[in-house]
Amino acid sequence: MARLSVEDLVVAYGSVKAVRNISFTVEDGEFVSLLGPSGCGKTTTLRCIAGLEGSTAGTIRIGDEVVAADGREVPPEKRGINMVFQSYAVWPHMTVFENVAYGLRTRREPAATVEAKVREALRIVGLEGYAARYGTELSGGQQQRVALARAIITSPRLLLFDEPLSNLDAGLRDRMRFELVELQRRLGQTSLYVTHDQSEAMLMSDRIILMKDGEMIQSGSPRDLYDRPATRFAAEFIGNANILNGMIARSEGQGGAIVALAGGVTIEGRFSWTEQERVSGPVLVCIRAESIQRVADGESGANCFDAEVTSTNFLGAIVTSAIRIGDVGLRAEFAARRPPSVGETIRVRIEPDAVILITEH
Ligand SMILES: Nc1ncnc2c1ncn2[C@@H]1O[C@H](COP(=O)(O)OP(=O)(O)OP(=O)(O)O)[C@@H](O)[C@H]1O
Ligand SMILES: [Mg+2]
Repeated sequence: MARLSVEDLVVAYGSVKAVRNISFTVEDGEFVSLLGPSGCGKTTTLRCIAGLEGSTAGTIRIGDEVVAADGREVPPEKRGINMVFQSYAVWPHMTVFENVAYGLRTRREPAATVEAKVREALRIVGLEGYAARYGTELSGGQQQRVALARAIITSPRLLLFDEPLSNLDAGLRDRMRFELVELQRRLGQTSLYVTHDQSEAMLMSDRIILMKDGEMIQSGSPRDLYDRPATRFAAEFIGNANILNGMIARSEGQGGAIVALAGGVTIEGRFSWTEQERVSGPVLVCIRAESIQRVADGESGANCFDAEVTSTNFLGAIVTSAIRIGDVGLRAEFAARRPPSVGETIRVRIEPDAVILITEH
């Protein structure tokens, strides 16, 4: 196992910069996700780390070893890395055993060692009893587990995943997310995981690196990114957020401010980061749908409002409603047991801590 460090990585295809000065680390045993929309440079970054793609500039270190720096590249097979792709790449004409054993055989390990290690890897991924099956005789989820077993069996210093679950149906994908993260925790393998699915990144990662257009937008724990998005993009990409334009009316100290919204509505909020604190000027106000709480009629205090319900959609455990506070339209989520009716005026409260103020530069 080892720590990964990427410093000022740049990848240019002609005049197109797919990756622009990205720097991050993955600590020993940590599970980190690269998250971002299609085309933001996730796969390119991963392929550079694997050595399948040359970098234009920057330094990549695995443990203490520099594997890529300004033109010098350690070949992929010498990097001590294994990668799991979206397509399972399980060889159909080989048995599960042969598929998993392949990496050890190319290292010419003794037959008895190969046998023992393959059995152990199949046990870890829950495929005992499948050793003699052919690739064609497996479901998508089973094939993906073969790919996983093949990736972990050579005890790589670093595991790289590129959307490994996106070809699976929703139910299986859900289960595999838990299995994969549980497996990673158990083996403690340093892992970098690429996905464009925010809920997958939230569920699995110790830390998320959010990317857009080849750049790093923000990095932090899932909680950090959810509670303290640094930009409009971060707020919109992760979770359901209402984003409103406001003007700071006055500072409240300790990172708080009163903000004027459309039509004379004022609301108290907190700046996402201390460096974003301002005493005047425009500000983005981010309110998560689930932060809007229904309270008793007549309830007073900070951020209590009358709201008119303009629509309601039943989603099972919750209903999502469109509400209006004066001229301000918001999407809210309420428990489905006692849903508000359309046309009803309800009393709501939004914790000042849950009103996130973002000032973009
Ligand atoms: N070989 C190449 N030549 C030219 N441009 C490329 C090449 N490979 C990737 N790109 C461009 O680099 C950018 C980043 O691509 P990349 O595959 O890293 O995106 P991604 O974040 O993995 O997207 P997705 O979620 O769709 O897989 C894209 O704009 C892509 O078109
Ligand atoms: Mg990709």
